[in-house]
Amino acid sequence: MPKLLLIEAMGNTGEYVLDAARELNVEVIVVTHQDVHDEWYSETLKAKIAADAKLVFTDFSDSEGALRQLAELARVEGVNGAVACWEFLTPLVARLTADLGLPGNDPTRALSCRNKRIMARAFAENGIPAPMTVAARTIEEAYALVRTAGLTCPVVVKPSEQSGSWGVSVVESDEELATAFTTAQSHLFQMPHGIPLDPHVIIQEYIGGVEFSVETVVAGGVATPLFPYDKFTTGGAIRAEFGHTVPAELDEASVRTLQQAAVAAAEALGITNGVAHTELKLLPDGTTRIIELGARLPGDHVVALMRQARGIDEAKIYVQLALGLVPSLAPTADTAAGIRFLTPPRGGVLRSVSGIGTSAAVAQSRLTVQPGGQVRPPGDNDSRVGYVILHADTAAEVNAAAAQVLTDVTVEVD
Ligand SMILES: Nc1ncnc2c1ncn2[C@@H]1O[C@H](COP(=O)(O)OP(=O)(O)OP(=O)(O)O)[C@@H](O)[C@H]1O
Ligand SMILES: [Mg+2]
Repeated sequence: MPKLLLIEAMGNTGEYVLDAARELNVEVIVVTHQDVHDEWYSETLKAKIAADAKLVFTDFSDSEGALRQLAELARVEGVNGAVACWEFLTPLVARLTADLGLPGNDPTRALSCRNKRIMARAFAENGIPAPMTVAARTIEEAYALVRTAGLTCPVVVKPSEQSGSWGVSVVESDEELATAFTTAQSHLFQMPHGIPLDPHVIIQEYIGGVEFSVETVVAGGVATPLFPYDKFTTGGAIRAEFGHTVPAELDEASVRTLQQAAVAAAEALGITNGVAHTELKLLPDGTTRIIELGARLPGDHVVALMRQARGIDEAKIYVQLALGLVPSLAPTADTAAGIRFLTPPRGGVLRSVSGIGTSAAVAQSRLTVQPGGQVRPPGDNDSRVGYVILHADTAAEVNAAAAQVLTDVTVEVD
């Protein structure tokens, strides 16, 4: 039985990888921090690990120590592959697999998949279409660099290393830049592992147009893009994803443009064996700009949407790639699926969620905060109280049913 290290199962892709490994008859060793396991893992995830996997604790805030411990563990256990299910740990996994001679990504470029400052530099050096970006340590430096680069508002301000749209602001005036900068620089450790983060703040050209995501599968250096899918994000100063629809309804030329850019980006950032999740904008003139790429599975239950819509299980593909196997990417269904997040009108205590309705397209609905639980004001991804998954023959049907659900649903907060 092949053995896989699953490095940090927290977040919604860990469970998909555990399920895929069980189906593939792969033995899993989950690596996390004991406090993270005890305080952050859901009861379902803990039960799944207790039933199917081995559990090992480490301290990711000491990356060199964790690397030594995991390399030793992998040798003793005779591990055949390693995957990261937590984006912050993708550079560590690239170094680990390289040290062990296992399939993986280029460790010398792995930080460029995680740190947006280094990513922007790699995109510029490799001619990858991306927003013009400067990186500053202080507000004074930010104003000076913005002026020298000729960047004009709106601009996007974000931490070099965060996720979940945390600390990302769209800034409309020079005066707002200072506040956005302070917000972006206010958390210099990743939670909950305490990994130290790059203190640079990046300031980017604002890219208009429509946003999509593309998954790219790289097997032994050969990159294959999957179909683009919609990424729906709120407007305004703070952006948060409110849903995805798989696949997007797009003309062939646009599909090709997005796929070519995703493949070029994966190659530029050293994805040599694994999956890449790329977020891109398509402009009215038919060109694209890459917003970011992660050397990981997509979040937000997109793995389930792809499986439902097309019969493609990216978690299974990820496990197969990590073990040096060549996965099949052939779709076995030709339908569409979507997810929409439910958010409260304001912060407070959740009283109820009602009105999701009984449309045949609603495949699943779930509250992630129970009535009586605290909810945050709408803004970033942490304010979600639940989600609805929809499934239908076409993306247009999914989007129409989703729009109806979002109109009808009432989230009551005290
Ligand atoms: N340069 C840009 N131009 C236009 N919109 C942008 C730009 N950068 C970011 N955004 C918007 O803000 C969102 C969040 O930004 P980004 O993906 O860089 O942050 P993140 O923390 O990695 O977020 P997430 O994990 O939610 O994807 C993007 O999906 C996009 O909608
Ligand atoms: Mg993003």
